[in-house]
Amino acid sequence: MCGIVGYIGTQTATDILMAGLEKLEYRGYDSAGVATVLEGEIHCVRAKGKLCNLREKLQREINPAQVGIGHTRWATHGKPEEYNAHPHMDAAMRVAVVQNGIIENYRELREELKARGHEFRSDTDTEVIPHLIAEFLQKTPDSFLEAVRQAVNELRGAFAIAVISADYPDELIAARQQAPLTIGFGQGEFFCASDTPALVPHTRAVLTLENGELARLTPVGVEVYSFEGDRLKKAPRTLNWNPVLVEKQGFRHFMLKEIYEQPGVVRACLEAYLDANWSAENASKSPVNLSLLPQLTDSLERIQILACGTSWHASLVGKYLLEQLAEIPTEVQYASEFRYAPTPLTPNTLTIGVTQSGETADTLAALEMEKRRRIDLDPKFQPRLLGITNRPESSLGHLVPNIIDTHAGIEIGVAATKTFISQLVAFYCLALDLAYQRRTVPPARIEEIIEGLRLLPAQIELILESQERYIEELAHEFAETQDFIFLGRGINFPIALEGALKLKEISYIHAEGYPAGEMKHGPIALLDAKVPVVAIAMPGSVFEKVLSNAQEAKARDARLIGVTPIDDQDAEETFDNLLPVPVVEELLSPILTVIPLQLLAYHIAARRGLDVDQPRNLAKSVTVE
Ligand code: F6R
Repeated sequence: MCGIVGYIGTQTATDILMAGLEKLEYRGYDSAGVATVLEGEIHCVRAKGKLCNLREKLQREINPAQVGIGHTRWATHGKPEEYNAHPHMDAAMRVAVVQNGIIENYRELREELKARGHEFRSDTDTEVIPHLIAEFLQKTPDSFLEAVRQAVNELRGAFAIAVISADYPDELIAARQQAPLTIGFGQGEFFCASDTPALVPHTRAVLTLENGELARLTPVGVEVYSFEGDRLKKAPRTLNWNPVLVEKQGFRHFMLKEIYEQPGVVRACLEAYLDANWSAENASKSPVNLSLLPQLTDSLERIQILACGTSWHASLVGKYLLEQLAEIPTEVQYASEFRYAPTPLTPNTLTIGVTQSGETADTLAALEMEKRRRIDLDPKFQPRLLGITNRPESSLGHLVPNIIDTHAGIEIGVAATKTFISQLVAFYCLALDLAYQRRTVPPARIEEIIEGLRLLPAQIELILESQERYIEELAHEFAETQDFIFLGRGINFPIALEGALKLKEISYIHAEGYPAGEMKHGPIALLDAKVPVVAIAMPGSVFEKVLSNAQEAKARDARLIGVTPIDDQDAEETFDNLLPVPVVEELLSPILTVIPLQLLAYHIAARRGLDVDQPRNLAKSVTVE
């Protein structure tokens, strides 16, 4: 949440900063600002709203400064107004700071600073930082780095900052504590940013700061220090990067492009982990190679999965697979709840963190807490921690030694689509691997499931080709609808939740997902002719049950939309509108049933003329708790 960028070098800083902020706008878009050092002064320009407002302001001036910082904000403390936009400065306007995160002790710092005569201009937590740095600079005027170092040691919370000063025009200081920050190395120019898309147009040589580290960037190089002041030896690594992923390539929105990338993502993930030569007859080793250490999975008695939002929905499907295939009792927890009410410690438990950004503060904090409480119990104990993400280079990758890369690449649309599908595929692979190791599923059945998995990419393509136009037309009928209900059962209940979440987050239509059998226990009171019901009814253990639950809704005048198997007579008779998907076995169906729901949400939001890729109040990486 919030994107920060910094530049020092030989080019026009504002151009580089604005290009970087454009790549980071998915992290927040309530307001934006840049500050540069020009002719011994800090020059700061800020604007409320999206980046285009800032761009318009900047176009009115010529600013050749070669050092600067920029910010795109997702408001936490203080309304999204210009006076709360970053960068923030000290009273004398000699120090400017951008921050991503939350300074938890800002109230007490602010009171102390006020008592010492500092005046504040914003409602933000961030503003204390330039004031603190300015104070420390009075004590250590010969070292900008030292003043920033002393200031960050006063801060509590999770934050990443970039700082410039009018009195140190050849320096930019960046610091990280629990919020992502990466340094980019160019030729005679250096960058910092919350995320790599802002860096890759300039360089692939990057260094991710660890918690408790700060870096001094000058036109001749980068030095890294610990918050204790020790110089650290660190070398940049080369980033693997596919620039196609961050361009729209003719699609109207990133979300639609990413929906269409899903067949490729499923293929890539399956190819990465499934052994092409494996068969039930030649089953001497696992069909899945996830490169997991044996001590992670040996004698497992329990699995707990920690996640938020869409990743939490993927984890619910994961639970189903892990329990049904590998027969391991599995719990799925909201990371934000787990932190304050953790489940009792049990032996031989694998903890899995699932996150597309790899940066979700609650998920990282919950994993860290879990690791700590197990080590506190037995200092020699190696906690069993596994991460599932498409961003293995993220903070999750630093925290958790074992990662399943879902191979979805970076996702730009704020509403998760391809990363969700890729998390599902990762769970299929993990569940099959554990099922093989634990001998809970015979090889012939494993082979059957794998064959089914391999057919999925072409089946998703078929849905996209055959359904999109119809769904677009159907969506027009719902542009004014105020409430939706999504129903599913068994392995498709999480897909009903996901369908509802997709719709509400991008179309702002109220939507609820329920287990179909729960309707009659209360929610059915909501139904009338104005509330459409979308039910997922796929062949398998609950097919007839879902059809009956749908009939119950129809009897209350609800318009029924069914995600159903192609050419199913019963479904055709039950539903008013059909979103047919190829017939697959129930276990594999979530990978198909979610596709029409993504398209439905997308087209309703697009029809309502909304900003599909950057819905209000949301951000792609939720780096605050
Ligand atoms: C919804 C969505 C969010 C995220 C949630 C967790 O489309 O993307 O609900 O799933 O904020 O984010 P990650 O997966 O990055 O931990």
